[in-house]
Amino acid sequence: MQPTSPRSSRIIGTGRCLPSRVLTNFDLEKMVETTDEWITTRTGIHERRIAADNEACSDISVAAAKEALAMAKLDAKDLDGIIIGTISGDMLFPATATLVQDRLGAVNAAAMDVSAACSGFIYGLTLANAMIVSGQMNRVLVIGSEVLSKFVDWSDRATCVLFGDAAGAAVLEGCPAGEGLLATHVKSDGSLAELLCIPGGGSRQPLGPTTYLEHSHYIKMKGDGVFKWAVRAMVDAAKTVLDETGHSLADVSLVIPHQANIRIIDAVVERLEIPRERVVVNLDRYGNTSSATIPVAYDEVVREGRLEPGDLVLFTGFGAGFTWGSVLFRHSISL
Ligand code: UT7
Repeated sequence: MQPTSPRSSRIIGTGRCLPSRVLTNFDLEKMVETTDEWITTRTGIHERRIAADNEACSDISVAAAKEALAMAKLDAKDLDGIIIGTISGDMLFPATATLVQDRLGAVNAAAMDVSAACSGFIYGLTLANAMIVSGQMNRVLVIGSEVLSKFVDWSDRATCVLFGDAAGAAVLEGCPAGEGLLATHVKSDGSLAELLCIPGGGSRQPLGPTTYLEHSHYIKMKGDGVFKWAVRAMVDAAKTVLDETGHSLADVSLVIPHQANIRIIDAVVERLEIPRERVVVNLDRYGNTSSATIPVAYDEVVREGRLEPGDLVLFTGFGAGFTWGSVLFRHSISL
C-alpha cells in the first residue's frame, strides 16, 4: 500500500554474504543425471554458493548485517528491530533473528523471522516500513537469508540444480514521506501451497522413519506450475506499486526481480516492456537463493555505484505459499 502517513522509511545501508564454496554445473554433472547445457538453457544458472557443513543461516546473516550496519554507520545497539525473511533458519525455533540479535549485540532490538519463502525480504521490508511509519520503531535491520542447500534433495535433479545459499541485508531508518519507500504491495494464495513446499518435518508429517525414507523432509516442487504463476504474480505486483504511486517503468532506474530462472525474468521483462539494461541479473553466479536474491543483488549494484540518490528502484518477487509482492523506493545511499 502507498503510505498515507507523513512518515516513511529509507534504506541507509546494505550488505551481503556469499559462502565461499562454489558448486558449478559441471560439479552437478558428477552428482545427478544432468548437463551444464540443460541447466544453462533451462535456468540461466552456471554456478551457486553452498554453505560449509558448519555454516548456518545465522552465520551468513550476521556477516551480511555487519556490512549493512557499517555502511549505515550505525552500531547494533541503535537497532529497534531485526526481521529475517527465511525458510531455512538454524532451528525450527527460536527465530534465527533472535540468534542474530544476540551475536550482533543488538540489545535494544525486537527480533522475528518471517516465513514467506522467496518473498521473505519483500515481506520483511513491508513489515519494517509499517513499524517505522507507525512510529513504533525507527531503525530496523531486514535480512533475507537462506541455506537451502541443507533442505535440497541432492538426488532430485529437478530441484538440486536450482538453489544456492546467501544472505543480503538492509538497514531501514525513518524519513519524511516522499523519500525512501514509496509503496509496498504483498499478497498470498495458499491454495497453491503444494506446488512448492517441504511437506515433512512439521506438525502435519512429523519427522520419522516414513518422512525420512520418502525424502519428504526435502524441497518438493512442481516446476512448471510455479513458473507460469511466478511470471503473472511478479508482473501484477510491479504494476500495482507503479499504479499506486503514479509512476511508469520509464521513471525506474533499476528493476531487481527475484532471481529464480532467467526464463521467468525474460518473460517478466517482455510483459512489462522494461529495457534489458535496467534489469539486474546475477542468478548465473548464485542460482536461486530464495529470500536473499533481491538484497544480494541490490547490495551489488549499490557497491558498484550503479545508482544515484533519488533514483527509483523496483523490487518484485514471488515464492512458496504462494506469496508475492513489490516495493518501489527512492535510492537513498551515497557512498
Ligand atoms: O523461487 C521459486 C522457486 N522455483 C522456481 O522458480 C521454479 C520455476 N520453474 C522452473 O524454473 C522450471 O520449471 C524448471 C527449471 C524447474 C524446469 O524447467 P522446465 O522447462 O519446466 O522443464 P520440465 O520440468 O518440463 O522438464 C523437462 C525435462 C523432463 O524430462 P522429460 O519428462 O521431458 O523426459 C525432466 O525430467 O527435463 C528433465 N529434467 C532435467 N534434465 C536434465 C528436469 N531436471 C533436469 C536436470 N537435468 N537438472
